[in-house]
Amino acid sequence: MVSARTAFLNTGHYQPIAAALSQSIKGGCSQIPEPVIIDAGCGEGYYTHYIKRQMTYSHIIGFDISKSAIVACCKQSQQIHWLVASVNDIPVADSSTDIIFSVFSRCDWASFSRILKSEGRVFVIAPGPDHLKELREVIYDTVRPYPEDKLLQTLPDSFVIISRQHLQGKMYLEGSEVLLNLLAMTPHYWRIQPQQKKRFSTLGEMVCHYDVYLTELKYTS
Ligand SMILES: C[S@@+](CC[C@H](N)C(=O)[O-])C[C@H]1O[C@@H](n2cnc3c(N)ncnc32)[C@H](O)[C@@H]1O
Repeated sequence: MVSARTAFLNTGHYQPIAAALSQSIKGGCSQIPEPVIIDAGCGEGYYTHYIKRQMTYSHIIGFDISKSAIVACCKQSQQIHWLVASVNDIPVADSSTDIIFSVFSRCDWASFSRILKSEGRVFVIAPGPDHLKELREVIYDTVRPYPEDKLLQTLPDSFVIISRQHLQGKMYLEGSEVLLNLLAMTPHYWRIQPQQKKRFSTLGEMVCHYDVYLTELKYTS
């Protein structure tokens, strides 16, 4: 799983998402000389590394509940602090963090409230309605739009949405390996029937769209 995600992300197909995230984070802490930034549910650290490269002056922590993902992260960089931890219990001091970002991962508003400084920001990347629609069309007879992110509907009053960007792009995916790596990054991988997987692995190429929201929230204590 970790290696499939690493292989897919290294193709650069999601680079525009990383670039937009980086741009927004820079804007969100432009007045802070050495911001403390946390990647919640960092996986193998693709976005963590990207942000560190763009903001070398920042202090970055990446954590994930998966030990194997964090082992992979540690092998790649010692410039970033890596932790095996749950989003429900982040081993970071109270009111210590300027920015938290979460990419296709979980948010725990109570944990985030505890560790954020007042006026701190959260950046969330979550699927839009048509995210990877073409991939889903190969797997399911009926493809429904992704529902609105429920987490954002249950926001406590201390978090306010201050901006929302809709990011969409076309990806030309060539070769069954890249297609299978993308599939393995998604929850659909666990639901796919053997027959559909076989059909999927015989596809030589696919044009597929990413469709995500980048939401910026401000926390006030
Ligand atoms: C879809 S992956 C996204 C990984 C990474 N953000 C990326 O986009 O490449 C979701 C990640 O959330 C992690 N995760 C799931 N539950 C978690 C929890 N309770 N606390 C921290 N991480 C969690 C998983 O191990 C996985 O690495």
